[in-house]
Order: sequence, then structure tokens, then C-alpha cells
Amino acid sequence: MIQRIHHTALSTPDLARAVAFYRDLFGFAVVREFAWPAGSKAADRLMGLAGTACRAAMLRRGDSMLEIFEFSSPAPRPQSEDRPVVDHGITHVCFLVDDLEAEHARLSAAGVRFHHPPQPSGGGVFTAYGRDPDGNVFELLEVREPAPKEAPLPARRDPYEVFSRVYDQDVHLRIPRAFVRTLRPLLRGLRRGPAVLDLGCGSGLVTAHLARAGLRVVGVDRSEAMLRIARRRCARFGPRVRLVRGDLARLQAPPDAPLAVACGDVVNHLPTQAVVRRVLAAIRRSLAPGGIFVFDAVTDFAFETYWTDNTHLLRGPQGDLLMDCDYDPVRRRGSVRMTAYARGARGRYTRHETTLHEYAWRDRELVRAVREAGFAQVWRLPWSAWPDQHEEPAMDRALWCGRTPGGPGGVGDARLRELGFKQLR
Ligand SMILES: C[S@@+](CC[C@H](N)C(=O)[O-])C[C@H]1O[C@@H](n2cnc3c(N)ncnc32)[C@H](O)[C@@H]1O
Repeated sequence: MIQRIHHTALSTPDLARAVAFYRDLFGFAVVREFAWPAGSKAADRLMGLAGTACRAAMLRRGDSMLEIFEFSSPAPRPQSEDRPVVDHGITHVCFLVDDLEAEHARLSAAGVRFHHPPQPSGGGVFTAYGRDPDGNVFELLEVREPAPKEAPLPARRDPYEVFSRVYDQDVHLRIPRAFVRTLRPLLRGLRRGPAVLDLGCGSGLVTAHLARAGLRVVGVDRSEAMLRIARRRCARFGPRVRLVRGDLARLQAPPDAPLAVACGDVVNHLPTQAVVRRVLAAIRRSLAPGGIFVFDAVTDFAFETYWTDNTHLLRGPQGDLLMDCDYDPVRRRGSVRMTAYARGARGRYTRHETTLHEYAWRDRELVRAVREAGFAQVWRLPWSAWPDQHEEPAMDRALWCGRTPGGPGGVGDARLRELGFKQLR
């Protein structure tokens, strides 16, 4: 079964120039460099030519790959820098962008040649054709139409009824731990005073970390299955922890929290921009003047790299969880088909299935949503729970922070700066 396009390959007279173009301007990373000398029989057979010799590089951005060859033999026929797109053969490579005007302006300023400024191509699609340094045509394409309206999901089980059976293990323990470790300096000075909010608290992993640090915490989640676990986990903290079942869009808490947090892509669970705004506005109303809301959000890089057509197996004492992930870049929606083999009494396993959707919010959409929800400041910090993420081309998450109007509140700007947060103007 043919699955999808794995890579596109170009032949260039100048490998270094072509690699620099796609690396520096298009954000690809070189993942492999290779070469073969003349006389390689296997390469000649593959190319269908005698005496081939070349240097080459494989580049990757997300799940897209480009292979670039510079052949020294046999002598390649040169390509006109203005090769007409009507000529037979592959005409162009198309790159999906999230802001066509911005990309067109950025690349034009870097000297990239375009056939024309961005223009509509119908059906909510906007495009611009341009040329790489060898005259290969590329297309930039942005889909601006709102995602096709989906029929409301049938009243179905909370996916966390399944997920909760195998949630408290493996990577799902590490994300809340890293989240609290990063934010620990913000907690100083919040011990006395009103409770902090843990929103989308799930099984209470962050809630417990905060309570252990001496804070009073109100945890809110809409999943009864997750809250059952949170209640067990947090019972030992007595009245210091209060757990409430509810939807964040209808959050009603006294307007006095100095800090609210949402860890574990909670904001990516919200299905539309309108819902994101509604939830953010409800959170803003629950904060004291100058209070802050800190949350993590999954980046495009992570959706493209770790979700697209990827299967992850997570294991632990509660059982195994097979996460069959995919990402639709047009709808900007990730899906995880989960099959949980939950370990029950006497070591018996039961199988449970569900699907969870998460939504990829662009940075500019989050900035706009935080501002429109009434926050006075927006801060951002590229972040990951994985200590080796810096070896990848990009971070898999960002931490976001919104501050309500009315003063520095319990956590000053200096503390955010110390952590590396940058305020977005
Ligand atoms: C990946 S879990 C994260 C749980 C926890 N914060 C952690 O870090 O382990 C996401 C949680 O968000 C909750 N959630 C998603 N959307 C919500 C909403 N609109 N209102 C309340 N809870 C929500 C889910 O029920 C789930 O427990």
C-alpha cells in the first residue's frame, strides 16, 4: 500500500547554496549528508545511468523531507532559471504556510524571487509562486477558510474515561513534574493568601506538587474519571486542596487567585478559537488584579513531527497504552486513537478504546486570544519537558503567561524574566 510522499529530490549545480536556501530561509534541518564516487554500481543502477558521482544532503522539516544532489558526473544538463512551469515534468513543490503575507514579505526581503504577490486561488486557499536559486518553482500555500464545520461530536464518552486507566505513568508523570519544576520560582511568596488554580487538573499530578509546596489549590476538571484519581491522590492534603468538577468555559471562582496554571496541553483540548477565548476570559475573571495564568501549548513542530502518522507505546504498572497519532495540517487537528490495555485485579488486562483530539493553535492566535480575553500582558517561553529537546530542530511546547490588568500581583515581571519568559508586545 502506498502511504504518502516521503521526500522530494532536486538536482543542483551548487549543493551548498541550495542547502543554505532551504535551511536558512525555509527552516529545514540537514539530517544526513552523503556522497558516492564514480564506479558505484548500486548507485548507477538506481539512477539508471553509468558513471554517476555526487554529493548530497537530506533535509527535514516536520514530516517533509527534501533530498538535494549535486552530481559531478555525468555532466548534468543545466536548467534555465526561468524554466517555464508548463514544461513537462514535475512543476513545483508546495509548502504549507500559516501566514502567507508574512512569509512572502520575509522571503522577498531576503532576495527570493516571486512570480507575483500572494493571491487567492479559490476555496479559501491563497498562494504565491516563487523560485529557488536554481530556478525551481516553489509554491507557498495558506488555507484561510475556517476549518469545515464538523457535525457536533455525538454525545460520547469522555476520552479520559479510557485514558485515566493508564494515565499516571510514563511521560504523563514527567510533563507535570517538569512543569512545576520550571515554575517553582513563581510559587515563592504564594503560600499565604488565596488558593492558586490548577485548571484541567486531571488526575491531580500538578495539584499535588503545588500542595506539597505548601500552597492552597483549587483543581478543576470536567472529567469525573480523572477527578476520582485526583481525589485519592490529594486526600492527604485535607482542606488545602479542593477539587471541583466543571468545564473551564464556565469557571466561576472568586476573583482573587494570584496564579492559575493549566498543564498538559489543556488549551490544545479546546476545539475552537471562540472556546479558547471563552475559557481564557473565564480564567481572567478568576484572577486577582495582576494575577497570572501560565499554561503550556503544543507547537506546530510537535504536531508535525510527533503526531503525524506516529504510533507511541507507553508502558507502566497500570498497563500499556498504544497511541496511534495523526495530524491534519489543514484542520490543524491532532488525533490520538488510544488503545489501553489496563491492568486490573489479579493481573488481568482489559482493553479499552477511545479517540482524543487536540488542536494546534498558532502563536498569533494564542496572543490574540489572551489579549481579547482581557489579559494586559502576554509572555512566552519556548519549553519542553524533555532535557534533550534542544537536540531537535525545535521545542515541542511553549509556556504562555497572561497577566491581568491592575499591577504586578503576587508574581512580579522580574520572576517571569528570570525564567526566560519574553513579553510579547
Ligand atoms: C492531558 S490532561 C492534563 C492533566 C493534568 N493537568 C496533568 O498535567 O497531568 C488534560 C486535562 O484537561 C481536561 N480538560 C480538557 N478540556 C477541559 C475543559 N474544557 N474543562 C475542564 N477540563 C478540561 C481533561 O479532562 C484532562 O483531564
